[in-house]
Amino acid sequence: MRNRARKLCSEGVHVVNFAAGELDQDTSPSIKEAAREAIDTGRTQYTDTLGIRELRERLAQKVSQKTGAAYTDDEVGFTAGAKQALFNSVFAVFGHEDEVIIPAPYWVTFPEQVRLAGATPVFLQTAHNDFQIDVDELARSITPRTRGILLNTPHNPTGIVYNAGVLEGIARLALQLNLICIFDECYDALVYAPAVHHNIVKLVPEMKARTILIGSFSKTYCIAGWRAGHIAAPQAIIKAVANLQSHIASNTCNLVQYAALAALEPANDAFVAENRRQLNAHRAAALQQIEKIPHLSCVAPAGAFYLFPDVSGLLNKSFKGQRVENVDQLAEMLLEYAHIAVVSGAAFGSDRHIRISYAIPNEEIAAGLTRLEQFVKLLA
Ligand SMILES: Cc1ncc(COP(=O)(O)O)c(C=O)c1O
Repeated sequence: MRNRARKLCSEGVHVVNFAAGELDQDTSPSIKEAAREAIDTGRTQYTDTLGIRELRERLAQKVSQKTGAAYTDDEVGFTAGAKQALFNSVFAVFGHEDEVIIPAPYWVTFPEQVRLAGATPVFLQTAHNDFQIDVDELARSITPRTRGILLNTPHNPTGIVYNAGVLEGIARLALQLNLICIFDECYDALVYAPAVHHNIVKLVPEMKARTILIGSFSKTYCIAGWRAGHIAAPQAIIKAVANLQSHIASNTCNLVQYAALAALEPANDAFVAENRRQLNAHRAAALQQIEKIPHLSCVAPAGAFYLFPDVSGLLNKSFKGQRVENVDQLAEMLLEYAHIAVVSGAAFGSDRHIRISYAIPNEEIAAGLTRLEQFVKLLA
């Protein structure tokens, strides 16, 4: 959708791009400076597979602070984005015969990685529960083959932040049944008060032995294309992940490691806080506008930068004789007739929703949602 929107733009059409999965702004000057300095000081060599020691020490400190548990530098690693950390983890811990529970809707990559590892994704539906996990339903979906659960909070695509009670319930089940929990907190810096992000190891310290924490620099520091992510897990898992990685691509880009080290300096906290403040303002404006659009309903997101409205009220309506048969087709029609690019919920395992990113300028959000409203009113 992003590519098609770009093509339309190149033909001179003004497309509002609600499809992006990243912030549309530059990174902090100190991060750029660190990358430049790494070039100028000849940082050209291979590094340890999971990163230079200083960075791993700093990551261990950060994860220890966040979880309240003591992580050493051998229990963390730097990766080419969270995506690589996730891929390597899934490959290290799951295999044929294993079932992995994934709450649905889900980030599109989760089930594909599980399948690539030969395991079977088992989806736990959450839409009927405003996208929160119902722990009793989770317990009922566990079978003798269940080996793990893949959690993401704040959540893409719904913007939901899991509450502490839910995570504690999941942790109890994981401990009781020896499940591995992959805990993706890529958007943990983008949570809007009064909501609070909860880390599962912080809530239940015994989970440290069963949890793989996944983090990302992409959204927090606006360096999605630089590919910077991290992993924290028991040492045996980190070792397996490093072995796998060493035969795939060796270390991540050396220069990016130095940039990541600079990103973790407290001086960047203000940069992150300002992004959060702006995104929160976008969220409020977008939500207010979307709530006024007939036939749509939207659970208020508390984190990340997405709205995930239920558009099932538009299905089977028509425009210019063309029937909206499903959410994929709705996304196509929105691009063609309203010139707004959204992502169809089908990509995330939902046939009732579309995803709208509000990490774009306020004027664009207002213009795009106005076009959406006009299009909805034209549907017969
Ligand atoms: C939930 C989730 N996990 C992981 C990622 C991957 O992030 P990265 O850019 O660090 O690979 C994304 C990116 O959109 C995401 O939404």
